Amino acid sequence: MSLYQLIYCSKRVISAEDDSGVTVDVEQLLIQARRNNELVDVSGLLYFGSEYYLQCLEGSPSAVNSVYNKIISDSRHSDIVLIDYRQIAKRAYSNWDMAYVKESSMTESLIKLYAGGSKFNPLDMSVESVMQLMQTFKSCLTVVDA
Ligand SMILES: Cc1cc2nc3c(=O)[nH]c(=O)nc-3n(C[C@H](O)[C@H](O)[C@H](O)COP(=O)(O)O)c2cc1C
Repeated sequence: MSLYQLIYCSKRVISAEDDSGVTVDVEQLLIQARRNNELVDVSGLLYFGSEYYLQCLEGSPSAVNSVYNKIISDSRHSDIVLIDYRQIAKRAYSNWDMAYVKESSMTESLIKLYAGGSKFNPLDMSVESVMQLMQTFKSCLTVVDA
């Protein structure tokens, strides 16, 4: 089976009636994402930092694109930008229906290293830097789970 990886970023939308904050928002979408992704054998990683989501989806091309098409019409985020879509030999996140990396002092240091500034904005980064950042986030995953 051919495997593909898709990376995009987007901006979190804060709805008028939403006073629950980022943690609750992310927890809710992770529950939904993990339940759905397991059914279609999609794995991946989600990071939320500053106001941006950065997500990697991996799986069969049809599964990845069908999940991505649902995601892009979700009103909980906006300004969605496709960063990369490529065939891969093996999954990077095979253990996770959707791994989550929380913003922390560790991620802040990594962002300084790869993004060249302290405020995370994936649109200011090269595709290679985004890929390296996500690869390094993987090493944080043993300690984070939403
Ligand atoms: C930042 C973000 C990431 C998301 N990631 C996923 C995901 O990995 N898989 C998924 O099925 N839905 C994800 N969603 C939710 C989808 O946009 C959509 O609401 C959901 O797939 C609909 O599920 P349903 O068909 O069970 O109602 C995400 C939403 C946001 C805002």
